Amino acid sequence: MADLSVRIGSLTLRNPVMPASGCFAVEYAEALDLNRLGALVIKSVSPNSRAGNPTPRVAETASGMLNSIGIPSKGLDAYRRDVLPAYTRFDTPVVVSVSADTAESFGEACEMLSLPEVAAIEANISCPNLEADGMAFAMQAESTYKAVSAIRRRTSHPLWVKLTPNAGQIALIARAAEDAGADAIVMGNTVLGMAIDVRTRKPKLGNVMGGLSGPAIKPLAVRLVHQCHRAVRIPIIGCGGIETADDAIEFMLAGAAAVQIGTASFRDPAVMGHIVDGLAAYCDTYGVATLSSLTGGVALDPQLTDRWLRFAQQSG
Ligand SMILES: Cc1cc2nc3c(=O)[nH]c(=O)nc-3n(C[C@H](O)[C@H](O)[C@H](O)COP(=O)(O)O)c2cc1C
Repeated sequence: MADLSVRIGSLTLRNPVMPASGCFAVEYAEALDLNRLGALVIKSVSPNSRAGNPTPRVAETASGMLNSIGIPSKGLDAYRRDVLPAYTRFDTPVVVSVSADTAESFGEACEMLSLPEVAAIEANISCPNLEADGMAFAMQAESTYKAVSAIRRRTSHPLWVKLTPNAGQIALIARAAEDAGADAIVMGNTVLGMAIDVRTRKPKLGNVMGGLSGPAIKPLAVRLVHQCHRAVRIPIIGCGGIETADDAIEFMLAGAAAVQIGTASFRDPAVMGHIVDGLAAYCDTYGVATLSSLTGGVALDPQLTDRWLRFAQQSG
């Protein structure tokens, strides 16, 4: 049996498979053994109470879905009291995902959640920055650096930083996160999209635009993971459209050390268990002793790729 364990900074996970924030709840324990996962990533929490976005909040698309759930929150005290204990009773590291609307409140919230029972903090900096007219922090290197530095100053917990695929110069943004002290990059969140009901002529989402997720975004996410892998030394956690063990392997070959599964769990709540089984089967079939050895292992012809990769790094 292959060694499926992976290292994300100082953390060792039993395997690279974990849920993507917002696509998982503790009730999934009815469908799969949560002690078989690499980590449990919880839905983002924000420091201030808020209701979330107007309805309808989800719409189906070809090979994916659009959502504009927002981050409904009852605040951090309620989160610590009512949400966190349901996850920390498992024998799997718990990752809290934090959203905030200023760099300082990001720092404050992450400090408050730097609890012994929390294995790592995922900063969802793909959310709107009030100090930049609502543009997501992770759209620009400067605001990425500012937010991640503000968090790093206030916590010594392992810090994962979740980027947005909507950004252009992803290599610069990933480097800004690394320079500011991130321990890992999560690449990434949903792609901004929109759908219209042609009978009513109304947008299908109450918030007009929303995040596209699922298999439709997988090639985009694989490309971004590969660009980040070339740009930084810290581990990358790949996310976007993963449904099978082969998808997870593809992300690892592109440069991911671990993977997160989002939309696929809505269709099959047991899918993450099947992916873990599939990773072990892949290793057996291909004689891979250590799964982590696949990270960044895409077979590239150096002569062919050198020129376009330099171009891709500059333009992305
Ligand atoms: C319904 C829904 C809610 C989500 N909520 C969050 C969230 O609270 N925080 C976050 O960082 N990402 C959130 N995401 C994004 C996912 O974590 C993930 O990055 C994205 O869906 C891409 O992965 P996938 O294609 O496997 O779903 C959400 C996605 C969906 C579909």
